[in-house]
Amino acid sequence: MKLFVLFCTPKICITYFDMQVVNTKKALSDLLATARSMGKSVGLVPTMGALHEGHASLVRRCVAENDFTVVSDFVNPTQFNDKKDLADYPRSLEADCRLLESLGADVVFAPTVEEMYPTVDERVFSYPPTDEVMEGSFRPGHFNGVCQIVSKLFYAVEPNRAYFGEKDFQQVAVIKAMVKDLKLDVEICPCSIVREADGLALSSRNALLAPEERVAALGISKYLFESRDYMKTHSLAETKAFVIDNINKVEGLEVQYYEIVDGDSLVSLENWEDSESVVGCITVFCGKRPVRLIDNVRYK
Ligand code: PAF
Repeated sequence: MKLFVLFCTPKICITYFDMQVVNTKKALSDLLATARSMGKSVGLVPTMGALHEGHASLVRRCVAENDFTVVSDFVNPTQFNDKKDLADYPRSLEADCRLLESLGADVVFAPTVEEMYPTVDERVFSYPPTDEVMEGSFRPGHFNGVCQIVSKLFYAVEPNRAYFGEKDFQQVAVIKAMVKDLKLDVEICPCSIVREADGLALSSRNALLAPEERVAALGISKYLFESRDYMKTHSLAETKAFVIDNINKVEGLEVQYYEIVDGDSLVSLENWEDSESVVGCITVFCGKRPVRLIDNVRYK
């Protein structure tokens, strides 16, 4: 987005913004052709909407590093293995567009399901062990759906760079594997987790938490952070138990899994010395609904 100043005096300044919202691949491709004919580099931020400050940080970085920023806003049905989860997923396109305009995005791509999936996508993506562990084992088909939509977006936009949040640590690893497999010429740019001042990792799903559930959810980041000190004097197995046991003691929280893994392969580790890159990945059910929250912490 560029800000055009139409008329300016010391007292008033009338401006307009030129961010475009398009729903079809054809309209998107026309805008991209114009940008490319001007020699512009293109950055893509794939999202499922319900944007928050975490997404805003990706868009800010994309705008800073590219001449032309495309943000996709599409709740992708093929990555939901639970129909209720898909139905409950928060949607707020109008508010998303207002935020994206203020951040300097050039295009919002908000297609319909029919536009992205005119026929059933039968492609199968498989990157073991990365896509089989953790989320892969608890949400069968999830990463296949992510690869289906992200590859479609990469083919439609052909971005020079694409931006993903590290809260979805495993997703970033799977997308890197897919890019290598499909030999796509796009740089994957992982961006740090954005947290509320009290530590809660930002997530579109936080909007589904009742106030008391949000308080309970703080236990997740609290014990992940504390475990970074705890690990200095304890084994990997003890640290894992420390996180799981303490979070499970918080009323309203139930750990689905906590794995301490190699930061590249995502294979579970047994000892701290087994890898140079060590990350703890957690998924916790929170509250009555329940809301499924994920987070992670880097140990080294
Ligand atoms: O991380 C997300 O919001 C989604 O998985 C993504 C990458 C936009 C694909 O739908």
